[in-house]
Amino acid sequence: MKKLYIKTYGCQMNVYDSARMADLLAPLGYVPVDEAESADMVILNTCHIREKATEKVYSELGKLKHLKSRRAEAETPMLLAVAGCVAQAEGAEILARQPAVDMVVGPQSYHRLPEMIARIARGASVALETDFPTEEKFDRLPEEQATDGPAAFVTVQEGCDKFCTFCVVPYTRGAEFSRPVEQIAGEVTRLSKKGVREITLLGQNVNAYRGEGPDGKEWGLGQLIRRLALIKGVERLRYTTSHPRDMDDDLIAAHGDVAKLMPFLHLPVQSGSDRVLKEMNRGHSREDYLKIVERVRVARPDIALSSDFIVGFPGESDADFEATLALVREVNYAQAFSFKYSARPGTPAAAAARQIPDAVKTERLYALQALLNRQNQAFNQSCEGRVFDVLFEKPGRKPGQAVGRSPYLQPVHVNDASALLGEIVQVKIAAALPNSLKGVLAPAARLQQRAAAH
Ligand code: 5AD
Ligand code: SF4
Repeated sequence: MKKLYIKTYGCQMNVYDSARMADLLAPLGYVPVDEAESADMVILNTCHIREKATEKVYSELGKLKHLKSRRAEAETPMLLAVAGCVAQAEGAEILARQPAVDMVVGPQSYHRLPEMIARIARGASVALETDFPTEEKFDRLPEEQATDGPAAFVTVQEGCDKFCTFCVVPYTRGAEFSRPVEQIAGEVTRLSKKGVREITLLGQNVNAYRGEGPDGKEWGLGQLIRRLALIKGVERLRYTTSHPRDMDDDLIAAHGDVAKLMPFLHLPVQSGSDRVLKEMNRGHSREDYLKIVERVRVARPDIALSSDFIVGFPGESDADFEATLALVREVNYAQAFSFKYSARPGTPAAAAARQIPDAVKTERLYALQALLNRQNQAFNQSCEGRVFDVLFEKPGRKPGQAVGRSPYLQPVHVNDASALLGEIVQVKIAAALPNSLKGVLAPAARLQQRAAAH
């Protein structure tokens, strides 16, 4: 038995990739562990989206270098690999900057890890795979998949053809690609047989999904969702991250007529200013976005909305920023993420004139986050007294406590519920806390709990 430690940065697609790398290395005898200290192989699955994310990787590598030399002295050598988007973007430069690294593997090539490990074992000093290979990664991954609780991610789409001017994704993840419908349905069926009840479909542009359907035609995300909703055992479906330009009629309709599709939509807008949206090459206006929101709300009136925002994009004026605040007030988000613009090497906006001083970015970020936090708290407070279906995913911090998710993706913790892990249970929301909800089992759930205990 060999020990494998994978540290994951960035988005949920990286979380999925890390799990698949572990599946891939399992037949080689690698067993996942949760610290680097005793591991025989350490993989950093990295993110390149903002400068901070990238720098974190190099500082972690600095620490691992010392661990690696201690392990070499003790004659229990450790392999060190960098995977993910920094690997893709920086390639051999990583080896130059941190010679302790043995392997560099991009997100489209990690199915080659076993072969790379073999190359090192045969005496190669380093192994590097950052091409976009012609063979398809998903065809080479093992069917056997470890699960981690009743909620799972499944990547259905990768890459991006949209080229927002701030974003590295088109360069690190390549062109848009969609997995065939039946390949995804097979994976979801296998997961459901292992007790998975909730599936989040992932893609950098998940609603740009155009996969081959069983009829040989191209299917959109709405059709894929309807297909997956037929799979027994799968009770909840979600998808992320979507682009406003790809919110087509069928997908919007699915929010109204597929009961398993959860009432939560992460639909990044980035800015509320038409001028900035244009500079960002988003391909939609503020009005377009608001219309989509309105249509989704007509299809599913209780839908909770989420978004990403960037403040301090080059040239963003006070008036542009005010337009973002005004859009936030108009939409009223249940939750959201917001970031200071970070210039990424090689992207068009990084070379733009009129970069915004950091102090201004910080000020705008505070103002935006204050507004978004107020909306988030108000949304959570509006849930007090309501009864939600909660899928219990893991034990809480206190003995007997279980933590799950509401349909609106809020974490909910409930005492005396650990017997119900893996189940969807009715919970009455007792209180909204800053980052989660506190609930109590509703009367019907108590019966279920008694049945589970017997
Ligand atoms: N600077 C700041 N934020 C960025 N994002 C993407 N690129 C950048 C960048 N260069 C944000 C966007 C995107 C989220 C995943 O990260 O808001 O939706
Ligand atoms: Fe980070 Fe984007 Fe890569 Fe995800 S796809 S890890 S967010 S750079």
